[in-house]
Amino acid sequence: MATKIATRETDERFGYQSFSIGEFTFSRDEYFAYIHWPTGQHVMSVDAFLRALQRDVAWDFFYGIVNFDNVLGTMNHYGKVDLFAGRFNEAYRKAELDHQETFVTEQIRPLFKSMLSDWTNEGFDPFASPAETGTAFGSKHGNNDEAVTRRRVTAERMVAVPGDEALRTDDNGHPINRQFADVAQDEPELHPAPGYENEVCGFNLFAYLSRSQVTWNPSVVAVCKESLYCPTTEEYILPIMHGNDRVEWFIQLSDEITWDVEDRETGAKRAKVVMRAGDVAAMPADIRHQGYSPKRSMLLVWENASGDIPEMIAQGKIPTVPVTF
Ligand code: PHB
Ligand code: FE
Repeated sequence: MATKIATRETDERFGYQSFSIGEFTFSRDEYFAYIHWPTGQHVMSVDAFLRALQRDVAWDFFYGIVNFDNVLGTMNHYGKVDLFAGRFNEAYRKAELDHQETFVTEQIRPLFKSMLSDWTNEGFDPFASPAETGTAFGSKHGNNDEAVTRRRVTAERMVAVPGDEALRTDDNGHPINRQFADVAQDEPELHPAPGYENEVCGFNLFAYLSRSQVTWNPSVVAVCKESLYCPTTEEYILPIMHGNDRVEWFIQLSDEITWDVEDRETGAKRAKVVMRAGDVAAMPADIRHQGYSPKRSMLLVWENASGDIPEMIAQGKIPTVPVTF
C-alpha cells in the first residue's frame, strides 16, 4: 500500500495544530473538533472527541471498530487501520457522503498520538470521569502528557502472582476512589501446602479496582492462553461506541450500567440492556454498544484475544452469538 502523507500545521487563532492524513483533515477550536473529507465534514464536542481518541490510542485501535460517534471512527485490521466517516451510518451511505481510507498502523498511530498530545490542555484528563477532571475547552494552554501517555496495567498471568503488577495501596499512590469508599480492603487468606507458596495466589479484585483512577479503560488482570480478564471501573458514558469483531462477555461486578446496543453496520437500535450487580451478558459479534454508568461501577469484560476469530466470523465459520436459545 502506498504511504499517504500525514502533515500538521499550527492554526494561529487558538494555538492548536491541524492534522491531515490521506484526504482527512482534523482541526480544533475552543469547543469543537472539525473533521473534513472529500465528500463531507463533521463536528464533535472536543471533550468527547478527546475521550474517544484517548481510548483509540491507548488500546492501539482495539478489537474491531472504535466509533467516536455515529459518523467518525476506525476499524482495526491488526497491522492496518481504516479511518472512516459515515461508513457505519445508513443515511451517510445512502447519500454517498461516506468516506474511508486505509493506513498502515505505523502511520496513523503517531498522528493520533500527536493530535491527542497537542489538543489536550493542562488539567484535562480524557481518562477521568467528568467530575474528576478540569476542562477540555479554551485556547491552547499547556498539556497533560503524563495522563494521556499512561499505560494500562497488563498482567502476564494474574495480578499478585510473583513477578506481576504489585497490588496497589495508598502508599504507592493509588488511593481509594471517592465512590468506592465502602469497598472492603481485606485480602484473601491463603493456606498453600508447603512448597506451593509462590504458586497459589489470590487478591481482592474489588479492593484493586476501588483504587483505579481511570474510567472506561479495561486492564488485564489475568491471562490464561487466549482468555483475558479485563475488569474496569466505569462512570458517565463509554466514550466510544465499540463495534465488536468477536463475542465478549460482561459481568457486572457492582452498581449498574445501561447499554445501548445497535446494529454494527447501520446503527439501527437493537436492544437496551440494564445490568445490575451480578448480571452477566454476552455481546454478539455483529453489534456496537455504548454504556452509561450513573455511579462509578465495576465491570468485568472477558475477551477471547485469538487473532483467528474475526476471520472465522466473517466467513461464517462460527456464529456471532455464543449461545442460541
Ligand atoms: C467495550 O467496548 O466492550 C468496552 C470498552 C471499555 C470498557 C468497557 C467495555 O470500559
Ligand atoms: Fe465491546
